[in-house]
Amino acid sequence: MKFLCYILIISAWLLSCKKENNQGPTPYSLPQISNFRAPSFDPENPLTKEGVELGHHLFFEKRLSQDFTLSCASCHLPENGFSDPQQFSIGVGGTVGRRQSMSLFNLAWSKQFFWDGRAANLREQALFPVPDTTEMHLPWDIAEQRLNSHQEYKKKFKASFGTAHITKELITKALAQYVQTIVSYQSPFDKYIRGEGDLNAAALRGYQLFNTEAADCFHCHSTPELFVHPSQIFGNNGLDLVDNPEDFKDKGHGEFTGHPSNNGQFKIPSLRNLTMTAPYMHDGRFKTLDEVINFYNNGPQLSPSLDPIMITEANRRLLQNGRWGLGLSEQDKADLKAYLISLSDSTVLSNPLFQAPKEL
Ligand code: HEC
Ligand code: HEC
Repeated sequence: MKFLCYILIISAWLLSCKKENNQGPTPYSLPQISNFRAPSFDPENPLTKEGVELGHHLFFEKRLSQDFTLSCASCHLPENGFSDPQQFSIGVGGTVGRRQSMSLFNLAWSKQFFWDGRAANLREQALFPVPDTTEMHLPWDIAEQRLNSHQEYKKKFKASFGTAHITKELITKALAQYVQTIVSYQSPFDKYIRGEGDLNAAALRGYQLFNTEAADCFHCHSTPELFVHPSQIFGNNGLDLVDNPEDFKDKGHGEFTGHPSNNGQFKIPSLRNLTMTAPYMHDGRFKTLDEVINFYNNGPQLSPSLDPIMITEANRRLLQNGRWGLGLSEQDKADLKAYLISLSDSTVLSNPLFQAPKEL
């Protein structure tokens, strides 16, 4: 009987050891932020400590470009709010892209990716830049071969996904995991909303203007995580005067959906960290926030897909004041700018998670 007991205890101990070895990757949580809503995670790609760490290496990995010169971070520079200070990013061999690089904060709260929305989730998104001939210009099979011949990467994929056989599906999973951990929530405005700090008087006045019909920004830029619309992902804010929907220089969302009614619509961009992410708009046409504010103040250009909010608001002003634009004073414009600046979070510049890791 005693002997049987020993056997039982020993086998229970062996079983528990086995369980520990098979535990798999450790779940990774984003910071709890009281002024944010719950993020919507990809059910097919839960965040893990190992996966995020691997994605961090891959995001800065130049082996993913044809001539070993570019990584994701070459066009999403951490010091520029994970965006590119150049109007159009330069790909392998000096090819020039056609759109402004997008900043990458708080994308666990975002849906449909790219200015035109052609990627349904971040895994799909990460499939594009590697083979894109104006970006990293490397066929996926070669990218896979390069990483499969690297022992450190094999170990990290094994720890993250349980297999050392590296595929583009796993590479994009790890990249998508890392990108979701780029969270920004420490701007002066966040702290003010959470009751952790004050906002200067100009920014407070700008906050009022932004959220009333005086400047009327809140209709499209209102969610706490990204300052985008709570349900509408794409919009046309009236950048271009166009009669025929076929005449948009860049058809934007319409290029993806094939519906002319979507031509000229673009993903409503985040307003976080604007002090780091100039130039602005899908084609980087505005170099400064003053230029952006002057554009909105002068009123929208007409086109078939112009957002009804822009039209009704401009019409109302035309009827009331005999002018198409917002009619903001110099003081109003300065206050609005102070508010936009208060959405920038300087702590992202010193966060080690957002810097290049040690090379593998
Ligand atoms: C050569 C420059 C360049 C490189 C390299 C690059 N990107 Fe981008 N990225 C862009 C540009 C430009 C856009 C907008 C393109 C568009 O909308 O057509 C973009 C858009 C994105 C978006 C969409 C953000 C949103 O809010 O919709 C994500 C995410 C992203 N890139 C991640 C990555 C990752 C991950 C890599 C590496 C695998 C990468 N990028 C490599 C320039 C680049
Ligand atoms: C009808 C919806 C709508 C309204 C109202 C609106 N915006 Fe926008 N905003 C957009 C869209 C769409 C874009 C992207 C346009 C593009 O690039 O084609 C944008 C872009 C921006 C950008 C550039 C961000 C970047 O990173 O490129 C800033 C800044 C901005 N808006 C601020 C404001 C302010 C300030 C107001 C109020 C004066 C305002 N918006 C009102 C829809 C709107």
